[in-house]
Amino acid sequence: MNNFSFYNPVRLHFGKGQINQLEAELPQYGDKILVVYGGGSIKRNGLYDEVMTVLEKLNMKVFELSGVEPNPRVETVRKGVEICKTEDVDFVLAVGGGSVIDCSKLIVAGAKVDEDPWNIVLKKTQVTDALPLGTILTIAATGSEMNSGSVITNEETLEKYGWGSPHVFPKFSILDPTYTFTLPRNQTIYGIVDMMSHVFEQYFHNATNTPITDEMCEGVLRTVIETAPKLVNDLENYELRETILLAGTIALNGFLALGSRGDWATHNIEHAVSAVYDIPHGGGLAIIFPNWMKYNIHVNPERFARLAIKAFGVSAEGKTAEEIALEGIERLREFWISIGAPSRLADYEIDDSQMDTLVEKAMINGPFGNFSLLQANDVRKILEMSL
Ligand code: NZQ
Ligand code: ZN
Repeated sequence: MNNFSFYNPVRLHFGKGQINQLEAELPQYGDKILVVYGGGSIKRNGLYDEVMTVLEKLNMKVFELSGVEPNPRVETVRKGVEICKTEDVDFVLAVGGGSVIDCSKLIVAGAKVDEDPWNIVLKKTQVTDALPLGTILTIAATGSEMNSGSVITNEETLEKYGWGSPHVFPKFSILDPTYTFTLPRNQTIYGIVDMMSHVFEQYFHNATNTPITDEMCEGVLRTVIETAPKLVNDLENYELRETILLAGTIALNGFLALGSRGDWATHNIEHAVSAVYDIPHGGGLAIIFPNWMKYNIHVNPERFARLAIKAFGVSAEGKTAEEIALEGIERLREFWISIGAPSRLADYEIDDSQMDTLVEKAMINGPFGNFSLLQANDVRKILEMSL
């Protein structure tokens, strides 16, 4: 294992009815609250009313920022920062998915600086403080509810980058599986692909002697592989929803990366694709990840073989590590297709006409990937395999 220092201060309130915890959590931060949400799903499923009832009971002065886009835009962040500054907001409550939470993270950091929030994403402005943030999660996917990362899109420049700061860890996150009942089948699938991809990103590292995190990764994957096919055909099943909800959080709250440094190249490539084409993050990952794996088998065939055996139950008998690895990757692709995920960029009508732009966007900070360092020609090949 590599040496590590671990810190995660997020208080999780998990389970049915945990929205009650808002009453205990909120008063300590003040009475001016900005509620941030997306395109209206929380109004349709009643969560908005539930939240407002609690805020009224607490006599909070409520401001709202609605319409946060999937793949949240920096323009929307700017509106939120403006409200926080002019109204002297005390607390930001994000109610929604990863996009709403990520947008809110940049709002709470942006509210404390004079510079434009996009400079924070570009890492030109340091984050040294932030308004306190809380979240009510409505989709199992990104893990943003229990991490300090955020991914923001700049529509003008067609850029989408991740950034993060310990100052934007949520103070608390409320995870009630019933709030995910209304999540449509396609979004449920994208979330499942995303959380599995987070496990893969962290599983592929170059540290040695990591049996605890290896087993945790494999256990999360096996559980998701067992649960997901049932859930996509039974969207209001509480037990299936709660399993997937917790899996999404564990997949990216830091536990799986203790003592190792994950790869994260596939996320970088996907962010370039969704910056240019605005496709769902999970959809992009389902297409690119199996190709990243195939392209990189040679780096450590035994690692890929172990994944195939432990997560996908591939039999090792009479096969080379490379054969086992390839079978595992095929199983992964078949699994994702079986639950309804896309497998080719053509599924989103993406061809090679913008290939140069995609490669250029992905390479903006130079070669990347910690398990396998990718140069521009590697990125191009992986994208070409994905067409
Ligand atoms: O906007 P509304 O109306 O709320 O609808 C949303 C949205 O259209 C809908 N939805 C969410 N909960 C619902 C629901 N519809 C019905 N019922 C519910 N309970 O689902 C759609 C997608 O929501 P979004 O928040 O975009 O999804 P997700 O949580 O997958 O977030 C994706 C964003 O997170 C970034 C991605 O790049 C993408 O921008 N990521 C953030 C990470 C992080 N902060 O750690 C890591 C990830 O790797 C990822 O990159
Ligand atoms: Zn992701």
